[in-house]
Amino acid sequence: MRGIFASCALAALLLSAAWADHQHHHDHSSEHSHEGELSCHKLSSPNADFAFALYKSLNAQTAAGKNIFYSPLGISTALSMLSTGASGETHSQLFSSLGYSTLNQTQVNEAYEHLFHMMGHSQEAQQLEVGNGVAVRTDFSPLEKFLKDAMHFYSGEIFKVDFAKPDEAAAEINRFIASKTHDKIKDMVKDLDPSMAMVLINYVYFRGQWEKPFDGNHTHKADFHVDKTTTVKVDMMKRMGRYDFYHDTDNHTTVIMVPYKGNTSMMIVLPDEGKMKEVEGFINKDYIRHWHNKLYRNSVELFLPKFSISADAVLDHSLKEMGITDAFENSADFSGMSDSIKLKVSKVSHQAVLSVDETGTEAAAATTIEIMPMSMPININVNRPFLAFILEHSTRSILFMGKISNPTAA
Ligand SMILES: *[C@@H]1O[C@H](CO)[C@@H](O)[C@H](O)[C@H]1NC(C)=O
Ligand SMILES: *[C@@H]1O[C@H](CO)[C@@H](O)[C@H](O)[C@H]1NC(C)=O
Ligand SMILES: *[C@@H]1O[C@H](CO)[C@@H](O)[C@H](O)[C@H]1NC(C)=O
Ligand SMILES: *[C@@H]1O[C@H](CO)[C@@H](O)[C@H](O)[C@H]1NC(C)=O
Repeated sequence: MRGIFASCALAALLLSAAWADHQHHHDHSSEHSHEGELSCHKLSSPNADFAFALYKSLNAQTAAGKNIFYSPLGISTALSMLSTGASGETHSQLFSSLGYSTLNQTQVNEAYEHLFHMMGHSQEAQQLEVGNGVAVRTDFSPLEKFLKDAMHFYSGEIFKVDFAKPDEAAAEINRFIASKTHDKIKDMVKDLDPSMAMVLINYVYFRGQWEKPFDGNHTHKADFHVDKTTTVKVDMMKRMGRYDFYHDTDNHTTVIMVPYKGNTSMMIVLPDEGKMKEVEGFINKDYIRHWHNKLYRNSVELFLPKFSISADAVLDHSLKEMGITDAFENSADFSGMSDSIKLKVSKVSHQAVLSVDETGTEAAAATTIEIMPMSMPININVNRPFLAFILEHSTRSILFMGKISNPTAA
């Protein structure tokens, strides 16, 4: 042990806020075909694998009937920023768990830079903000290169806080997070350790507007079946329209894409009654791709609950289970952050919020008229636990994903 300050801790705090409204859809495949292999698309496949590996771990720790919701992109981003300061085994564990073993740090950094750039083209109807922050102890100077990389590649904002006054430091970090999440996440940080050296912060804020809003006049009270014996009342929205949909009989699942304005959609994966466990057991990025390819446009009468959930998670256990262990131990090698002080990660926490309602924005709900063929619409009733994925198409990212077991649970 060469460090004298072995108790100095580095906390990576990950958080995200989603704010979703829904509706609309267009075909994005044509936008992809002429783009070629974009730098940020290198991340798409490993990030999706990471997202599902994390799901499996979180799900195993989550009590039945509890919601799971997180931002895979946010977590991958924060760990990648962390890896810019890591070396040796600490670095290889991060890279291999993230699925980046065939890439080097420069390629990953550049891919994220490109991704932030693409996402920066925020459309008027869609707000998508992804970025990072680094709160640094007033009397601690991280290596210049780490701070430069965080700023340059990860849209990181660096600010100094006085961890010797933990309450003030927490308040300051919470103010930063609240401002970046438009007050959706306010009290993320509490009980800071006065020996903290740095806090890494990631945020993802998404506020979408359905391409085709629901008509609030059709929202009604209805039953949602949490499980065989538990039923809760939800505000059920209803909309008849043309949606991309697929019913996979073999795999007991109905999939529907509900598009937001811009380049994002919510993909709803609704297992047949009693089949959630089975579907969660096999789901991975290949199923998502398969279903995505099989989607076809149909008349649908869609029933979707209106809800708002918040989920937080301490990710330490899951990340360790996924092979990121050294980062948390005294053997951690963050020599790319500091050559004088030994650092390790003390805690990785994450919070994500999701709101789904008829429009999602205060903007007037413009009515869209669709030409309906003269056929009976398919009825899709999201009245039981489902999986939801908020997908960003231009960068092929999973912004958020989760399992909504009970829309009325806080
Ligand atoms: C990273 O990989 C790229 C492409 O293979 C290569 O050009 C570059 O020199 C590598 N950078 C480092 C720092 O190893
Ligand atoms: C809801 O119903 C009211 C009263 O019938 C009507 O004025 C309003 O336009 C309806 N809203 C929408 C979005 O259609
Ligand atoms: C069920 O999933 C498997 C694996 O992705 C796939 O090969 C098969 O085609 C799916 N079944 C249907 C009806 O789509
Ligand atoms: C979708 O993404 C493409 C590629 O980044 C961008 O050029 C386009 O403006 C985006 N469209 C919308 C509606 O956001």
